[in-house]
Amino acid sequence: MPEAPILGPVNFVADLSTAGDFEKKHTPHIEVSTAGGVTIVSVTVGQDVPHPNQPDHYITWIELFADSASIARFDLSAVVTSPKVSIPVDLDAGTVLRAVENCNLHGLWAAELVL
Ligand SMILES: [Fe+2]
Repeated sequence: MPEAPILGPVNFVADLSTAGDFEKKHTPHIEVSTAGGVTIVSVTVGQDVPHPNQPDHYITWIELFADSASIARFDLSAVVTSPKVSIPVDLDAGTVLRAVENCNLHGLWAAELVL
């Protein structure tokens, strides 16, 4: 039997400036800030075009990777949580941050940012 991925393909939009609203509402937005000497990574889904947050259509989870390693995962609930998460990290400059989110209707979407 051929191997099949457990999850579906990951959608990755290289240039959001030319993307449509469907892509913009699903692609994670990664921000890095510093507070008190601590680096904080924030991931928002629907930064510029809000994604629905209803029981039948919502972001079920957001996962953050550093290079190829998963470093944090947030399971979300419809309506009562928003797809915006933040976490302090201790990573080297040059680390590739990758955020992946899952929409219950439209699958996996990813974005990357080099720290
Ligand atoms: Fe969706």
